[in-house]
Amino acid sequence: MAGNARPPFDKILQLLRDININTNTQIPIVSVDIPSGWDVELGDKDGLGLKPDMLVSLTAPKLCAKTFRGSHHFLGGRFVPPGIAEKYNLKLPPYPGSSVCVRIGKPPSVDVSALRENYVGAVLLEEHINKDPFKQFQEWFEDAVAAGLTEPNAMTLATATSEGHPSARVVLLKGYDHRGFVWYTNYGSRKASELLSNPWASLVFFWDKLHRQIRVEGKVEKVSDEESDEYFHSRPRGSQIGAIVSRQSEVLPGRQTLDDQYKSICEKYADGSYIPRPNFWGGFRLLPVSIEFWQGRESRLHDRLVFTREGVDDDQWRMQRLSP
Ligand SMILES: Cc1cc2nc3c(=O)[nH]c(=O)nc-3n(C[C@H](O)[C@H](O)[C@H](O)COP(=O)(O)O)c2cc1C
Repeated sequence: MAGNARPPFDKILQLLRDININTNTQIPIVSVDIPSGWDVELGDKDGLGLKPDMLVSLTAPKLCAKTFRGSHHFLGGRFVPPGIAEKYNLKLPPYPGSSVCVRIGKPPSVDVSALRENYVGAVLLEEHINKDPFKQFQEWFEDAVAAGLTEPNAMTLATATSEGHPSARVVLLKGYDHRGFVWYTNYGSRKASELLSNPWASLVFFWDKLHRQIRVEGKVEKVSDEESDEYFHSRPRGSQIGAIVSRQSEVLPGRQTLDDQYKSICEKYADGSYIPRPNFWGGFRLLPVSIEFWQGRESRLHDRLVFTREGVDDDQWRMQRLSP
């Protein structure tokens, strides 16, 4: 890559470059207009064409852009026709006297609750970070999704007994918003009984390819029954039955007991009837009082920016840099 890329390409190119350096996979490919080997209308119809990670469609996307499967699709060129801008509701950035470019196609966002299975910013500076830590979380989470990480919603949940004995395990983030971070579990499990006697907990996300970590601390409360019901019924039936069968964290005499119980509940609901959510299963939400964003840097001189809630009930955050 010669010269300096302009925003927003600079960040994305950095992401593509760093991910590939870290994974030693193929060289990232950016196609400007129709990728080599593609048919203008049908795309990579023979399967022999380039498979770009990023596509920049010039002026207006050609029909083949519909078959683009990469994470980053931009519309660029010196002129975006008003009709196209209107059709895609594009917010064109003001680059007077220069070309315009704007992200189109599939944005790198996901429905976290549906997840079952950008970049190594070289820097994390005060002037770049979103002043709203939830929005900053969303940006980094979307980067983790766009980077193709396995289970980017996996997070370590640390709890402690009321006597201060800690324990930690991985759970899956299934929702987040300005209230906090949600996961689902068994209300009779070890983690749940610790949380019910001591609601203070912490979460850690680690996105290795991006050299990023997010640490969240706060108090935990149960989500509403309606929220738990909705998520429970969005899960595959097998997982619903699994939740009924598992008395999580209790001692089992052997694997067979679990399999037998699973089979018997499967038979009970074999007619496809509605499976009620058991009252011992549901969600928890961690309401953060602090959120730290950690960006790995060279020579261990990492960036750490931590947001601390000014008051327990308000949405005012203080941001400070911590020594790595
Ligand atoms: C990738 C991964 C995701 C997991 N997701 C969940 C989850 O969302 N909820 C859950 O209760 N357990 C989940 N587990 C299992 C927990 O780590 C843990 O074994 C279980 O919740 C029992 O923990 P406890 O005895 O401390 O309560 C997950 C484990 C892994 C490795």
